[in-house]
Amino acid sequence: MKEFKNIQTGQKNLTDYEQAYATFQWADVEAELKLNTQAGFNLAYEAVDRQAVGRRKNKPAFRFLDGEKTESLTYHELKRLTNRFANVLKDKGIDKGERIALFLPAVKEFYIAFLGAIKLGAIVVPLSPALMPDAITEMLSDSEASLIVTTTALMSRIVIEQLPALHTLLVIENEDAGGPVSEFAARESDVALSYEWAMTGAKETFKALDVSPEDPMMLLYTSGSTGRPKGVIHVHGGITHYYQTGKWVLDLHEQDIYWCTSEPSWVPGISYGIWAPLLHGVTSVIYTRQFLPEQWYGILANQHVTVWYTTPTALRRLMNFGPDNPMGRFNLSGLRHILTVGEPLNPMVIRWSSMAFGLKVYDTWWMTETGGQILCNFRCLPIKPGSMGRPIPGVYVSILDDQGRELPALEVGQLAIRAGWPAMMRGIWKDTEKFRRYFRMPSWYLTGDLAYRDADGYFWFQGRVDDMIKKAGERLGPFEVENKLIEHPAVLEVGVIGKPDPLWGEIIKAFIVLRPGNVWSVQLESELKEFVEQRLGRHFVPQEIEIRHSLPRTKSGKIMRRVLKAMELGLPFGDLSTMDD
Ligand code: WTA
Repeated sequence: MKEFKNIQTGQKNLTDYEQAYATFQWADVEAELKLNTQAGFNLAYEAVDRQAVGRRKNKPAFRFLDGEKTESLTYHELKRLTNRFANVLKDKGIDKGERIALFLPAVKEFYIAFLGAIKLGAIVVPLSPALMPDAITEMLSDSEASLIVTTTALMSRIVIEQLPALHTLLVIENEDAGGPVSEFAARESDVALSYEWAMTGAKETFKALDVSPEDPMMLLYTSGSTGRPKGVIHVHGGITHYYQTGKWVLDLHEQDIYWCTSEPSWVPGISYGIWAPLLHGVTSVIYTRQFLPEQWYGILANQHVTVWYTTPTALRRLMNFGPDNPMGRFNLSGLRHILTVGEPLNPMVIRWSSMAFGLKVYDTWWMTETGGQILCNFRCLPIKPGSMGRPIPGVYVSILDDQGRELPALEVGQLAIRAGWPAMMRGIWKDTEKFRRYFRMPSWYLTGDLAYRDADGYFWFQGRVDDMIKKAGERLGPFEVENKLIEHPAVLEVGVIGKPDPLWGEIIKAFIVLRPGNVWSVQLESELKEFVEQRLGRHFVPQEIEIRHSLPRTKSGKIMRRVLKAMELGLPFGDLSTMDD
């Protein structure tokens, strides 16, 4: 308890930002972690086996909460179980570099399979359990995953006929299930096995494969504004970034109880839901059941959470909970550090948090492609509410004009990062052209975000250069929604935008031209929404649909989403010279 007091009274891991920024080098972290990058190492081994000794051996690595019961896994148990899983894969003939998909909620099996597969040198493809067949098929076929771990409840969404590379399903037979594994209609060449059964038969010892820092460990699908979701490649070498930001930004200490609310199919749920906390040997709480304010407050209080990484939308939802706000009933005095990611953090939320929790909120900016935090608010620096903060030491960030020249303070341009930081994506799966486009200005990674820097070196978010949608922090491609709606027989044309919303950040709005002979009705509206929900998933469903006679297009026929958005918001249309009459 005495040690706990220490962290309460605030020994910060980073006390002098300016000095760290001036002197820090990534090689310092390699030395601190005693990594032999020449001989090779394994990220999952470093995160699990290296921790499972001494006083951390019997310390919980994870506490899984499902709203009713709690199940802990110690570092040592995690080591044994991930070894078992690596052996299961080995027995199935899985090799280094093969893709293993995890179509699972945030259950303990996700974490075991994720870490076990990476020990073997496989590349993990996390897939959100909210995704429906069309979305899943696209990612499974693009990644050519040969094995998938899923549950009996989710299994029916896997369209196996369209997945020639897939040969093994490991199925967790949960109670809320759609039937036993034996009923699964696999092709004759496929194997559907019970996960539990396979794990029981597997050995508990495994020698993790040493790989190069440049070897991939994960393929994470994310949306852009055009085209299909892209598989962003991340490597074992991200380790120094995950570790150092866990130390300086999350400010993790040995005794912390840490809660990252992101599910593990979104990058924060991996970099800061798995790697950073494990590399620091802390205990993480995992809960990604449905959001209920009562439950959330209950977790913070009952689990004695000290460090909490969440999203602005989640805080706004708690803030808006209203007169029945149950916060007063919970003792939240253990909390010492709150951070957010994924979308702009409005100053009002920081004010509310200061009153409600007695703590400010520290915003962090980064992307699936950056792999780790880039712009952050640090505990040792003043917060400027509304700002994303300053670059982490070891990374240089700037604002560029269209020619790639660095802009002075207070001028808005594209946010860019000097290429080559440890957690940076190393490629887009099977799409080198897309990957190159991010680096089209020599030596810079272009983020697609618009921002400016103030005289004190703080960065301020101003929007996107493209039409990417951010709903509750979640990244959604308008193209994916449009592409699905256009498949419906009643739809002739469609354009989709993100419409600003005070609670969700943005909501999805679709503008539709109906095919002749169709009449707009409440019934057709719900039919269209269901059409999207059943094929792509709940998150892609437009909250608003507006029927139009025509949509603004360029002369070459492309829907002009920016004009739709300007119309919606009553803003000037900007340059219309490319628009068709
Ligand atoms: C946006 C996974 C404002 C931004 C972490 C970025 C933010 C995109 C912030 C990446 C923030 C992220 N303030 N905007 N603090 N953090 N964004 O890959 O537009 O799902 O380019 O992020 O989210 O989305 P992704």
